[in-house]
Amino acid sequence: MKFKDCNLSSIDEFIEQMTLEEKIGQLVQKTIGRTENLGQEKSINSDLFESIEAGRIGSILQSASEMFEEVMRAQDLALHKSRLGIPLFVNSDIIHGFGTIFPIPLASACSFNMELIKESAVLAAEEAASAGLCCTHSPMIDIARDPRWGRIAESCGEDPYLAGEIAKAYVCGFQGEEISPNTLLLATLKHYLGYGAAEGGRDYNTAEIGENTIRNFYLPPFQIGIESGAGGVMASFNTIDGIPMTANNKYLDDVLRKELKFSGIVLSDWTGIAELMGHGMAKSPEEAVFLAFGAGIDIDMVSDFYEKFLQNEISDGRVELSKLNAAVKRILSLKLRMNLVGRYEKQIALKSKPVVFTERARQLAKDLADESIVLLKNDNVLPLRAGTTLLLDGRWTHCRNFLGCWQSSAYKKHVESLDEMLSRRNFSVKDANKLSENEKLAAAAECEYIILTLGENENESGEAASKAVLSLSEEDQKLVSLYKSCGKKIVALIFSGRPLLLEKLCEDVGAVLMCWFPGHGNEAVADILTGEINPCAKICVSFPRREGQIPVYYNHLSTGRSAHGRETEKFVSRYLDCPNEPLFPFGFGLSYTQFEYGPVNLIRNQNDFFVVCQVKNTGKRCGKEIVQLYVRDCIACPVRPIKELKGFKKIFLEAGESVDVSFKIDRKLCAYYHAARFDADDGEFIFYIGDSSISENNIRLLLQGENFSLAR
Ligand code: BGC
Repeated sequence: MKFKDCNLSSIDEFIEQMTLEEKIGQLVQKTIGRTENLGQEKSINSDLFESIEAGRIGSILQSASEMFEEVMRAQDLALHKSRLGIPLFVNSDIIHGFGTIFPIPLASACSFNMELIKESAVLAAEEAASAGLCCTHSPMIDIARDPRWGRIAESCGEDPYLAGEIAKAYVCGFQGEEISPNTLLLATLKHYLGYGAAEGGRDYNTAEIGENTIRNFYLPPFQIGIESGAGGVMASFNTIDGIPMTANNKYLDDVLRKELKFSGIVLSDWTGIAELMGHGMAKSPEEAVFLAFGAGIDIDMVSDFYEKFLQNEISDGRVELSKLNAAVKRILSLKLRMNLVGRYEKQIALKSKPVVFTERARQLAKDLADESIVLLKNDNVLPLRAGTTLLLDGRWTHCRNFLGCWQSSAYKKHVESLDEMLSRRNFSVKDANKLSENEKLAAAAECEYIILTLGENENESGEAASKAVLSLSEEDQKLVSLYKSCGKKIVALIFSGRPLLLEKLCEDVGAVLMCWFPGHGNEAVADILTGEINPCAKICVSFPRREGQIPVYYNHLSTGRSAHGRETEKFVSRYLDCPNEPLFPFGFGLSYTQFEYGPVNLIRNQNDFFVVCQVKNTGKRCGKEIVQLYVRDCIACPVRPIKELKGFKKIFLEAGESVDVSFKIDRKLCAYYHAARFDADDGEFIFYIGDSSISENNIRLLLQGENFSLAR
């Protein structure tokens, strides 16, 4: 039977006629090659095509859009030249867009706009599928509390609830409501588990996290991603409690497969299986294969260990054939459910070309960037007064690359630079970059505003980009000191893939705009500066004052000696030389208008309970506000965080308008993991509704069974 004649009910029969080599082939993922510089020479993996014909490869990994022809050739060989005609999974890391690049994930998470994030995933899937891809290693939903870790840029920040909502948006965007022939990209949740907790923020490092923290913080986004139907999960590089995740029976088998009932495919990370030897757990490649396969890794990403050593493990009886058949069945079922045969036959026959970087895609990147850029400080400086003279200084003045890490768009520089965008908006723009210090100051005297572009280059965040120092570069600091006393309004634009230390900068300048890397939506920077767009994003990660505070995150536990309200006492949990609090807390972000919050009330409607609060736009212009619901469980064991995000709503209000914002509350919302049991305790809870994680606007309620009442 050829694969094209197989369906979900004949799949076992199909697997029976596969040779051992063909079965193992389905578990093998190889890279197609590299394009080092886009548009430059490609180096194609030379054995690839031969192995595909022989049925020894089940998925290929490509990193650049230029690989379209090679991908189609590979798929053609798999379908028409291999014995059984099984299509390949064609995988890629589509993290924030394919040809059209959206803001980096850390930025788009700050939008708290799930519709836009989902649409960005739909669009990325459309572009990628048109270029022959069918599987993405995304979304990355690692909880990230440590800005030293460069991969924080790919994450959605520090909060499990937000990360869960985002996981759902991405999975549904990439795959649709369920995996079907309409699914364009199979989603892979990564990195399972605890990768974001790398000690010292150093990439690939050990994670030391206890089960309570894993279950209540690191696991929930994965659970939601799985409930949303994600087809894949990628095991992370790190160890947990001394066991590398690639060989972690407890979390891969007991938790992921048995408890969370994940029935899709589990991939290793890049050479993760071979790295079991680097960890010092496996003494030989055979043992690495035995451990990884035994723990539940279905697909070997590029270490070639399954290809070389799994056959022997099976022939010698160390690995059961039935387990191999089960893994093959998981992989083939997904290929069938997505109807990859039909899709690729059509794509090959039509000789269709990739459709990327359309007007619609660019507009969506702009819409998302509008809602991702965070106004951190504004002493009546922004928006810029129309038609004034601006002095621009710093690395991004003429820059045309705002894309950030983890992308390989062929349209890297297809956007306007900041000076071009502002000139086109009728400002008189002076570029100070090439001037001497004296000339800079003389030029500044002639201008109304100074706009400084500061931050990090795109390769300073992302994978293998950990940093121990998070202050602005010396060059940036010099610029700020030069201009700070010249009596002009200074705006700092920060481009970066992580929170930086901005305390000193905030003392020296009048306005700070956290632009992150806005992708092809970079026009949003100019629109926010000029007030065309009213900023509405809130940070999804706390900004530390100093590296020594890290990890600093809002949803921490209380200690027995909390410093809260006792900041001057000696024997409390605090630093002698720095406040405990971050510079900017999770959920914080300014607007050009102001929102006022009324008291929080409890409303009962038959058996449903709601906490409600009036929000009023008291400023002079319309704007969007992210209304946030936090909960504190006052008495619990294990003890609970001082606050946890449990809901948010993004609302739009005209100037002067007000609206009642309500959140339905129930017992489930108050539940948490006590060991493996997910439940709530009766007792007192504080519900906060406010504009950030430090809002104290709250109501105290008593939970008894399914009912809430006012706590006395
Ligand atoms: C990263 C993964 C990625 C893979 C394939 C690894 O180094 O950790 O996130 O999916 O490479 O590119």
